Amino acid sequence: MAELFSSITLREITFKNRIAVSPMSQYRTRDGYANDWHTVHLGRFAIGGAGLVYAEATAVEREGRRTHGDLGLWDDAQIARLKPIADFIHREGAVPGIQLSHAGRKSSERRPWHGETPVDHEDVTERNEGPWPPCAPSALPYADGWPTPSEMSEDDIGRVIQAFGDAARRAMEAGFKMIEVYAAHGFLVHQFLSPLSNHRSDRWGGSAENRRRFAIEVAKSIRANWPEHYPLAFRLSATDWIEGGIEIADTVQTARVLKAHGVDLIDCSSGGIGGKERPRRMVIKEGFQSPFAAQVRKEAGIATMAVGFLWNADFCEALLASGKADMVALARELLDDPNWPLHAAAKLGDNEAHSLWPIEAGWWLMKRDRLLRKLGLR
Ligand SMILES: Cc1cc2nc3c(=O)[nH]c(=O)nc-3n(C[C@H](O)[C@H](O)[C@H](O)COP(=O)(O)O)c2cc1C
Repeated sequence: MAELFSSITLREITFKNRIAVSPMSQYRTRDGYANDWHTVHLGRFAIGGAGLVYAEATAVEREGRRTHGDLGLWDDAQIARLKPIADFIHREGAVPGIQLSHAGRKSSERRPWHGETPVDHEDVTERNEGPWPPCAPSALPYADGWPTPSEMSEDDIGRVIQAFGDAARRAMEAGFKMIEVYAAHGFLVHQFLSPLSNHRSDRWGGSAENRRRFAIEVAKSIRANWPEHYPLAFRLSATDWIEGGIEIADTVQTARVLKAHGVDLIDCSSGGIGGKERPRRMVIKEGFQSPFAAQVRKEAGIATMAVGFLWNADFCEALLASGKADMVALARELLDDPNWPLHAAAKLGDNEAHSLWPIEAGWWLMKRDRLLRKLGLR
């Protein structure tokens, strides 16, 4: 059997294979409430054979949304719309996961197709969507032309840490079985971790140890509200790709510390701390971030997920077989082909007679296949 289709257990949750649906914001909610779009969007990945289906970046407080369309879990009332989605994913044999998020200085942003720039008065006229003031570890804007966030007070920090814990409790009540903290791509937890965005001189900034404190407190707050037998992951930007920012050695140490505080897996992404230009050092090619997953896995002794520009089953299989990662996450390839895991299984020889397909489809595809072969057409 291919490694990609071998099961893996984190705490007491078993994933039937190593394929995760990477969190993908849909910008499609009203006030953070999931709707039919999310049911179909996420449900098709469970039917398509993924082992882990992550719901998108989900705001732990209203002010922590990136855009007006973000999913939210800041209110108990938001649980009921997510529950049937998580239950469906679970019934179809995948593990339902959710990414918890606070956008910090990247809050109040337009959806990608509206420009990915700060919300302003035009949005009020065009969509009745007004801006709101962002907060961050330091009063440093995300990029030129972005609002200067307010520097978070001790009270603000405590409130957001608690909000992560409260959202974790709601995620559990909604039926999710894995949480990933969005600590990458320039979101709030990453803003605390990176010296480029955290210029504080109190216990939340300065030394690497102080900059990690927020991430650790978030992990502790979640662990206090999340079942012991359910896994917890962090998505980290393994490097900022910018001089003076986070480097992979810092991330290895962050992973070690998070592991000691109940984190089970590091999802190794990169970049996004500031500015809209791609950093010069960031060269994109197939699996370009997977060396980070390999290094964190080896040096921090924690399970890792490789992500970024993955679409080739053989490439993913080689990553796992050579011990570079424990799981792979795909985003855009799955948008293109939600059945990618089933097709990958066929390619790697693990989907004999369409046995991995839901019977409602597999039955017919198996019969058609036989006929095609008999007729010499395949
Ligand atoms: C539509 C879309 C929405 C995304 N939203 C999120 C998100 O909510 N959280 C996150 O961590 N990454 C998000 N990402 C990044 C993906 O999870 C993934 O890391 C990135 O697309 C690279 O993987 P890929 O090459 O397989 O697409 C998003 C990507 C896409 C295409």
